[in-house]
Amino acid sequence: MTINQWPQFPEPYWREHLQFPSFQSLEEDITTDVTIIGGGISGITAGYLLSLQGVNVTIIEAGNILNGTTGHTTAKVTAQHGIIYDEFINHFGEEKAKLYYQASDSAREFIKQTVQELTINCDFEEHDAYIYTNSEKELSKLEKEATAYEKLGILGGLVDSMPLTKLPMIKALVMRGQAQFHPLKYLVPLTESIIKNGGQIFEQTTAVDIEEGTNPKVITRNGKTITSNQVICCSHYPFKDTAGFYFARMYQERSYIVAVKSDEPYPGGMYISAETPTRSVRTTPMGNDNLLLLSGEGHKTGHGINTMEHYEALATFGKEVLGVTDIQYRWSAQDIYTLDKMPYIGHYTSGSDNIYLATGYRKWGMTNGTAAGIILSDLITKGSNPYAELFSPSRFHADPDIKRFVEHNADVAYQLVKGKIGMNFKHPEEVSVGEGAHVKINGEKCGAYRDENGQLHVVNSTCTHMGCEVEWNDGERTWDCPCHGSRFTINGDVIEGPAEIPLKKVDF
Ligand SMILES: Cc1cc2nc3c(=O)[nH]c(=O)nc-3n(C[C@H](O)[C@H](O)[C@H](O)COP(=O)(O)OP(=O)(O)OC[C@H]3O[C@@H](n4cnc5c(N)ncnc54)[C@H](O)[C@@H]3O)c2cc1C
Ligand code: FES
Repeated sequence: MTINQWPQFPEPYWREHLQFPSFQSLEEDITTDVTIIGGGISGITAGYLLSLQGVNVTIIEAGNILNGTTGHTTAKVTAQHGIIYDEFINHFGEEKAKLYYQASDSAREFIKQTVQELTINCDFEEHDAYIYTNSEKELSKLEKEATAYEKLGILGGLVDSMPLTKLPMIKALVMRGQAQFHPLKYLVPLTESIIKNGGQIFEQTTAVDIEEGTNPKVITRNGKTITSNQVICCSHYPFKDTAGFYFARMYQERSYIVAVKSDEPYPGGMYISAETPTRSVRTTPMGNDNLLLLSGEGHKTGHGINTMEHYEALATFGKEVLGVTDIQYRWSAQDIYTLDKMPYIGHYTSGSDNIYLATGYRKWGMTNGTAAGIILSDLITKGSNPYAELFSPSRFHADPDIKRFVEHNADVAYQLVKGKIGMNFKHPEEVSVGEGAHVKINGEKCGAYRDENGQLHVVNSTCTHMGCEVEWNDGERTWDCPCHGSRFTINGDVIEGPAEIPLKKVDF
């Protein structure tokens, strides 16, 4: 298949051939022990653990469960989160860096044990994880990271060769005994267990507000409410981001995946490059064949103009480096970065005792999201967890937060100004089939996309979150906001927040 023949709105491999339970939307006011907003790995893991302990949980999901970032991941289950431990030792100290490693490694172990206990058939396989480099410049970073591994007692170190010999490298840093799985085959049984334990799940049910109090009340888009003792917000981007100033403390980054058929036996291992643009490789079984999942090309959402080029770059990598060309799937997704790279897991704000959130996994949410589920379920049932302080969203570290805070918000300010004075507009008639472009209609700034039938879909291009101008994403055919990463369909509907309100449709 050539790139031009790829499906326009591809489904990720994970969702193919899988039986999904489906759930009704919420149609009446209800009461429960704990309300969980969001049906991704964090929400489902928290719900699973709470329901095992007899807590009555209700999960509400804006769309369909497991179809957010969790349904579009690469699903390496590892504590090797890129080159991070040397940086964490420098910024947080050795003790906290070690805690981070332990939280991630316990999450990996939790997944392994859960797979065994529930006999889940989810292609769970143990592999060593490698960060490899072919550049002298990155080598010194890898050496420092290897020293960090030694200090923290992480099993692994620098090696001169890797099982997948086709990847060009001068050195690699291995972390032994990591894993990979099929994320949805793993999470569907957990979902079934929640229902078996008396929990409830509602799909097509969007939380729009939380009334705080002794018994917080979640208000949904159709006006129905859920009253509970605690609320956990696992909506990926916190759906109420002004409380806690999350919009100023986080940004979203997209990455791309191509799944390519390979006839050769896979030698084992999971790989990620030290240099950027990132090149990540793992395998997954597809019938009698192997698929190689090649991912990377990350960029801030709304900043990767001509996003098809990112898929093409991965396809070229597959062809030239690994000798694979038979592309079966492609998809992309985004994840959230906090300013100090540590997830936010804990109380929503320092003043909210019974409202929690979990976010900011920096593309390592299989372990971080699992850790979040464990931590939040412990906070609710036991009142404490050894990692709670480390991940507390109320923490503040002068370095590097302040520098990144300034950089992030300066970029948002730049995007806002650029959107007001630096835009190029086409005449609507000039927008060709399959193209999205900025146009002006009656003086209003708009985004226009012309579909295969020649029909123009026009929306007001000013993001309903905080007023930046959305950019066209030609790979996914969506309007993406460069400020905080909201995404909209060609007709303006919200695909991903923080925006809650659709872009206004403009008649043309
Ligand atoms: C390309 C890519 C590759 C990755 N690869 C890896 C990897 O190899 N290993 C790894 O560990 N991690 C990886 N990650 C990261 C990982 O996939 C994510 O961190 C994780 O899936 C996030 O899970 P979540 O539960 O927080 O969010 P999601 O899975 O996005 O779930 C949140 C849910 O909340 C719902 N929601 C949102 N707003 C509302 C609302 N108002 N009301 C109700 N519901 C709402 C959404 O519809 C969504 O279903 C990758 C990420 C990307 C983008
Ligand atoms: S997402 Fe914040 S302005 Fe668009």
